[in-house]
Amino acid sequence: MEKLVFAVNGERFELELSEVDPSTNLLEFLRTQTPYKGAKLGCGEGGCGACVVLLSTYDPITEQVTDFSVSSCLTLLCSINFCSVTTTEGLGNIRNGFHPIHERLSGFHASQCGFCTPGMCMSIFSALVNADKNDRPEPLDGFSKLTVSEAERAIAGNLCRCTGYRPIVDTCKSFAADVDLEDLGLNAFWKKGNKDANVGRLPYYNRDGICTFPEFLRSEIKSSLTNLDVSEHTSFGGGCWYRPKSIEKLYKILDLKTFSEGRVKMVVGNTGSGVYKELDLYDKYIDLKGIPELTIIRSDHKGIEIGAAVTISRTIEVLRKKDDYMFISDERSVFNKIADHLDKVASQFVRNTASLGGNLMMAQRNQFPSDIATILLAAGSIVCIQTSSEILSLKLEEFLERPPCDYKTLLVSVYIPSWSTSSFSGNIATMGSRATEKADVLFKTYRAAPRPLGGAVAYLNAAFLAHISLDKASGYHVLDNLHLAFGAYGCEHAIRARQVETFLVGKPITASVLLEAIRLLRKTVVAKEGTPHAAYRSSLAVAFLFSFLHPIAKDLAEPRNALQTEVSNPAVSAKYSNGSHKKLEPAKLDLYGDHHILLSSNQVVELSNNYYPVGEPTKKVGAEIQASGEAVYVDDIPSPKDCLYGTFVYSTRPLAHIKGIKFDSSLVSRKIIAIVSVDDIPEGGSNVGASSIFGPEPLFAESLTEYAGQPLSIVVAETQRFASMAAKNAVVTYSTENLEPPILSVEEAVRRCSFFEVPSVLYPKQIGDFSKGMTEADHTILSAEVKLDSQYYFYMETQTALAVPDEDNCMVVYSSSQCPEITHGVIAKCLGIPLHNVRVITRRVGGGFGGKAIRSLPVATACALAAYKLRRPVRMYLDRKTDMIMTGGRHPMKVSYSVGFKTDGKITALHIDLLINAGITKDVSPVIPHNLIGALKKYNWGALSFNVKVCKTNISTKSAMRGPGEVQGSYIAEAIIEHVASALSTDANSVRQKNLHTFESLLLFYEGSEGESYEYTLPSIFGKLASSTSYQSRVEMIHCFNSDNRWKKRGISCVPIIHNVMLFCKPGKVSVLNDGSVVVEVGGIELGQGLWTKVKQMAAFSLGQLWADGSQDLLEMVRVIQADTLSLIQGGWTTGSTTSESSCEAVRLACNVLVERLQYLKDRLQEQNDTVSWNTLVSQAYLQSINLSASAYWVPDHKSKSYLNYGAAISEVEVDLLTGATTILRSDLSYDCGQSLNPAVDLGQVEGAFVQGIGFFMCEEYVTNSDGLVISDGTWTYKIPTVDTIPKQFNVELVNSGHHKKCILSSKASGEPPLLLAASVHCATREAIRSARTELFSRIGSKESPLAFQLEVPATMPVVKELCGLDNVEKYLETLPSANLSASP
Ligand SMILES: Cc1cc2nc3c(=O)[nH]c(=O)nc-3n(C[C@H](O)[C@H](O)[C@H](O)COP(=O)(O)OP(=O)(O)OC[C@H]3O[C@@H](n4cnc5c(N)ncnc54)[C@H](O)[C@@H]3O)c2cc1C
Ligand code: FES
Ligand code: FES
Repeated sequence: MEKLVFAVNGERFELELSEVDPSTNLLEFLRTQTPYKGAKLGCGEGGCGACVVLLSTYDPITEQVTDFSVSSCLTLLCSINFCSVTTTEGLGNIRNGFHPIHERLSGFHASQCGFCTPGMCMSIFSALVNADKNDRPEPLDGFSKLTVSEAERAIAGNLCRCTGYRPIVDTCKSFAADVDLEDLGLNAFWKKGNKDANVGRLPYYNRDGICTFPEFLRSEIKSSLTNLDVSEHTSFGGGCWYRPKSIEKLYKILDLKTFSEGRVKMVVGNTGSGVYKELDLYDKYIDLKGIPELTIIRSDHKGIEIGAAVTISRTIEVLRKKDDYMFISDERSVFNKIADHLDKVASQFVRNTASLGGNLMMAQRNQFPSDIATILLAAGSIVCIQTSSEILSLKLEEFLERPPCDYKTLLVSVYIPSWSTSSFSGNIATMGSRATEKADVLFKTYRAAPRPLGGAVAYLNAAFLAHISLDKASGYHVLDNLHLAFGAYGCEHAIRARQVETFLVGKPITASVLLEAIRLLRKTVVAKEGTPHAAYRSSLAVAFLFSFLHPIAKDLAEPRNALQTEVSNPAVSAKYSNGSHKKLEPAKLDLYGDHHILLSSNQVVELSNNYYPVGEPTKKVGAEIQASGEAVYVDDIPSPKDCLYGTFVYSTRPLAHIKGIKFDSSLVSRKIIAIVSVDDIPEGGSNVGASSIFGPEPLFAESLTEYAGQPLSIVVAETQRFASMAAKNAVVTYSTENLEPPILSVEEAVRRCSFFEVPSVLYPKQIGDFSKGMTEADHTILSAEVKLDSQYYFYMETQTALAVPDEDNCMVVYSSSQCPEITHGVIAKCLGIPLHNVRVITRRVGGGFGGKAIRSLPVATACALAAYKLRRPVRMYLDRKTDMIMTGGRHPMKVSYSVGFKTDGKITALHIDLLINAGITKDVSPVIPHNLIGALKKYNWGALSFNVKVCKTNISTKSAMRGPGEVQGSYIAEAIIEHVASALSTDANSVRQKNLHTFESLLLFYEGSEGESYEYTLPSIFGKLASSTSYQSRVEMIHCFNSDNRWKKRGISCVPIIHNVMLFCKPGKVSVLNDGSVVVEVGGIELGQGLWTKVKQMAAFSLGQLWADGSQDLLEMVRVIQADTLSLIQGGWTTGSTTSESSCEAVRLACNVLVERLQYLKDRLQEQNDTVSWNTLVSQAYLQSINLSASAYWVPDHKSKSYLNYGAAISEVEVDLLTGATTILRSDLSYDCGQSLNPAVDLGQVEGAFVQGIGFFMCEEYVTNSDGLVISDGTWTYKIPTVDTIPKQFNVELVNSGHHKKCILSSKASGEPPLLLAASVHCATREAIRSARTELFSRIGSKESPLAFQLEVPATMPVVKELCGLDNVEKYLETLPSANLSASP
C-alpha cells in the first residue's frame, strides 16, 4: 500500500493514499484532520494569506533544508510527500511558551480580531528563517539578518482588515538587523520617546529556536533513497496521484485508457486553482515536479533555460544570481529586471509554489492576464513544448498564438536569451551605414495595478527591449531590434506591437516620432469588448511607451518630466536620458523616497492614571493565543460527532418565480444528505431569517426571488467541499412571467414610489429657513450631484455558525455574531420553539464591522433549521464568494445638493435631496438618514433642509457598516465645501475654517449632544493641524513640487469630523471564584475592538477600589468569557462604537455591588491585620457565605445617551498622471478620545478605521452586474488596502481632552468616527488632480474650468487617470512645437 508521509509541527503523519481524495488541499486537511486550526480560511484563492504555513523540503544529498511560505488553501495534500509543515502552533504556545513573533505581535498591539494573525506570523517566520540562512554578517544578539526593507515586504501579500498594518510592520521590523528600535511605534516593551528602546526589552529571538524539519523525516527520506529506487516509481496514490519521473513516463500515464480530458489535471503548484476555481474535482492529478527536464536550470553566455516546473521564486533567485557574474556595468540587466518584475507577481507565498510554466500555460490556454508572458515576450524568449507526437521549440509569441493547448501538451522549458551589447553586435541589420556609437540594451518592464507590490493583477503590463545607439551626426538616439510587448489589458494573450516597432526602428527619437508612434499604439492596444476600463488600459500603453522613450528623445529635454512608472523604479540611466532626470533629485531626496514602504511614524498618546489600570495601554486580551492559533473561532470548534456541512443556494436573478432547483445527480447520489428550504420550517415556526427594530425578513425565498443573492435553500452534505460543489452546480430555473421589471436603481425606485418609511422620531430636524439662507447668498450652486457606491465588510472570517441539537427540543448555536440576543430570538421564531429552548454562544468574532450584526442572522438561523430537521449538528462557513454576494454592505446613494454662499466662503444655506438604496428589506436602513445628516452637520450651513428617501430596490439588503451613513454624510459635506471653494477659486481649507461651528451654532445643530463648551475641542484640533507652520510650509512645498513636475502632482487636505454616538443599555455580570480569580460576562462581543481588554481593566479598577491606596493590582485575576444568551440576557447589539464603554459601565456597577458586599468584611479584617490581600478577603467571604456574584444592567440616563466625537486629519498624496496611481505620502490624525480607557486599543481602532476608510474612498469597488448580482466576489476583484497602499507616514495623536461628565470615566468612542477622517485622502487627491488639470487645460488652451469636476468614490486608478486626461500624453506632445515637425528621419 502506498503511503503519503509528512510532518506537521514535528508530528509524523502517514496516510494511505487510496484513502486520500487527491483534490484535498493542505488547509482542509490541517483544519479537519489535525488539532492545528491556526491556519485559517479567508478566501481559498491565494489572495489573503490567512492560511499561510511554512513548508520545508529536505535534500538528502546536500542535506539542505529549504523553507518557504505557502498558501495552504492552494497546496494539494498529495504534493507534500516527505515535506514538513510548520503552522503557527509549531512556533510556540501558551503551555510551552510563545514564540517571540507571537509575543511581539501582541506587544506591538498588532492583533485585533486576530483572524489574520496566524498567517502574518508564518509570513514573518518564513522571512526570518530565510534571511537567517544567507551569508550576511552576523547580526547583534536578539536580531535576525533580515533588513528593514525586507521586513516591510514580509507581509505584503497578507490582508488584515482591522489594524491598518502599521503595528504589524513594526513587529516585523523589530527583528531586522538594521532597525532603529526608537523608530518603532507604541508598544508594551518600552515607552516611546524615552530612549529606553533596546533589544533586551523585546522577547528574545533565538535564530535557532525552531527546527523546521524533524530528524525522523530526514532519516526516512535517506532510507527511502537506499531502500527503494524511487526513480523507478512512476506513480503513487492509488492510481489518483501520479508523480512521473520522466517525460516518457508521463506520456505512458496519459496514454492509459482510464485517462480522459476533464478528469485529469497536470499540476505543479496548483495555484491556478486560486484563479480558476474549478467547479469539478479531478479524479487524477499528475504532479510534474518530479520530471527532471521540467526542473532544469541551464545557462551559458547566450542565455538561460529554465524548466517549466521551476517556481517563480526560484526563477527570481536564479535570474538575480546570473546577473551577478554576467554583468559588471551598473545598468541593471534584462535578467535582473525580469526578476524585479516577477517580484510583483502575486505574493511571496504564492510565488513560492507557483511555476513559470503553470503561468504560461494559463496564459496560453485560459487567456490569463499574465505578467510573465508579457515580459518574457519582450525578452525574446523561446519555449520548448512536447505534444503527444513531437517536441517543438517555439518563439513565445508563436506559442501564445497557437490554439489553446490540449491537456496532453507539456510545456518543458523556457529559454531567455542574454541581451547584452556584445550579443547584439552581430544582429544589427537595420543600422545600415549610419555612423553610430556601439548599441546598448535598454530593457524596461511596467505594470499598473491597484497594489504596487503585487497581489493584484495589472490593468495592463508591458515590457520593452531595444538596442539603442547614438547617431553621431544628428545627436539623436536611434532604436533597433525593438520589442514592444503589452498584456493583461483585455486581450487574448500578450502581444508585440509590431506596427509600432517597425515604425520606430531606425528613426531618431524625437517628440514628433513619439507622437506618431503613440497614435499607432492607440490603434494596436485595444481591449476586447466588455473589458472594464478599456480606454484607461489603452492610455496606460501610451503612458508606458512614453515613459520608455521620453528620456531618450532629445527635443523633450525640459525640466518638468518626472517619470517613475517602470517596475522597480530605478533612476533613469544617466547615459540614455535627456538630462531631465536631474530635476527629479529634489523629489527623490525628500522624505518620500520609495526605498521603504513605511516611514517611521509618531503615535502620541497622553495617559491618565486616575482610574488605574483603566487608561493603561495594556496589551489586547488574548493577542498571544490569537497569534499562536490557539484562539477558538466558531469554525475552530471541533465538529461534533455526525456533524454535517451546509452551503446556501442563492438566486442569481433579481425578481423571478422559482420554477425548480436541480442538483447534479452524480453528486446528489454521492454525498448530499439533504436540501433544506422554506418547506422544512416546522409547524409553529415561520420563515424568518433576520430581524431588526423595523421588522423581520424572510430566511428563504418562497416561490418568488426578490433579489440576486437571495437564499433559496441550503445543501447539506458530509463535507464542506461537497456541499459547496453541489450548491455551485445547482441549476435554478426561473420565470419572469407576469412580473414587472425589477427595481435596480434609486431613480427607478423614485419612479415607482418604492420607499421604506422613516419613522418621524428618526427623521432628522431641519435647521433654519433654506429660502432665506439662499437669498442671503452672493453665489449659488444648484442641483449638483454626488453618487456613492457600496462597500463590502471584508471581515477576514466570513459568516459562520454551528448548530448542535440538544435534549428536549433545544438548540445550541455557536454564531459569529455581533448580536447573539437577536440571533437567539430569530432562531426560536423560525423553529417555533420557546426562547428558553435556544442558546446562542459567541466567544469571539473574526471581524464584524457591522456585517455580523443583522447579516449574520440568516446563517445562524439556516444552520439551526438544518440541524433541527436532520437532528444532527450542522455547521456553515460561507465561502468568500457567497458571503460577498449575499451579505450586502454599505448603502449606495445618490445626492443632489443646492448651496448658497457668500464671496468670503461663508455658506448660508444648504438643501440636500438624498436617495438611499436600502435594497430589498429594511434592516436598519431607516436609521441611515439620521446618521448621515448627523455627520453632515459638522459644518455650520446656515440653514439646512433636506429631503431623504430610503428606497426599496431588488438588490441585496444593505446594512450597517462601520460609520453607517456617517461616512457618507461627512464626505458629502466635504464635497460641497470643495465645490464652493472651486466656484470661488479659493482654497478649500479656508472655506472649511470659515464654516466650522462656533459652540453656539453647534448647540443649534446638535441639540442635546453638544455637551459643555469646553468639550467642543474641534476648533483647537483642526486649528492645530490646519494652522500649523508645518502644514503651511508643506502647502508651499507642494506648490513648488507641482510646478516642477509635469507627471506627478501632489495635493494636501485637512478634514474635520464630528460624529455623534449613542449609548445603549448593557448588562454585566461579575463572579469571584474561591481562588480570587474573577469571571466577567458582558453583553458586548469581542470583535477585535478590544472590548474584553477594556472590560478587564474596568473590573480590576472597580474591585481594586476596595483598596484606596491602589495596592491590589487585580488585572491578571480577571477573565472575560464568551457571551451566552442564557447566562446573561439582554446583551443587545455590539454596534455603534459605544459597546465597550457601556459594557465597562455595566461591569463597574456589578463590581460596585460586590465592593459594597465586601467592604464591611474587609474593614473588619483590616482591623485584625494591617494588610488584607484580595485572596484573603475572597476566601473569608466564601467562608462567610457572601454572595460573590453580581449582575447589573446599565441604562444610560437621558443626558448621557449621546455625545459628540471630534477629530481632524491632514493627508498628503502624490498622483501619477501617467497611470492614475495615488500614493498616500503622509497622514496626520488627531482624534479626541477623552480619557482613553486604553490608548493602545483606541490607537489601533483609529488607525484601523482610517485604513478601512481609505478602502472606501480609494480602492474598494463592489461591482454588480445588470441584475444586481455582485461580481466583485473575491480577492481577485475586490481590493482592500494592503501594506503598500496605506500612508507611507502615518502619524496619530490621541487627544486626551480630560474630563467629560457625561462619558464613562471621561472616555470617548474610537471604533467608527476615525473612518470618516479618510475623506482627507480623497480630498487631497482631488487637490492633486486640480493641479494636473489646471496645468493641462492651460497648456491646451481649454476654455473649460479645470476645477469643475467630481471625483468619484472610490477614486481608483482609472477614475483618477480619466480626470487627469486619458490622452494627457498626446495632448502634451501635440503642444510641443517640435512634435509638429515631420516624423520622418
Ligand atoms: C493570488 C494569485 C495572484 C496572482 N497574481 C498574478 C499576477 O499578478 N501576475 C501573473 O502573471 N500571475 C499571477 N498569478 C498566477 C500565477 O503566476 C499562476 O497561478 C502560477 O504561476 C501557476 O503555476 P502553478 O505551478 O501553480 O500551476 P498549476 O496551478 O499547477 O497549473 C496551472 C495550469 O497549467 C497547467 N500546467 C502547469 N504546468 C504545466 C506544464 N509544464 N505543461 C503543461 N501544462 C502545465 C496545469 O495543468 C493547469 O491547467 C497569481 C496567482 C494567484 C493564485
Ligand atoms: S485562504 Fe489561502 S490565501 Fe486566503
Ligand atoms: S486583526 Fe487582522 S484581520 Fe483582524
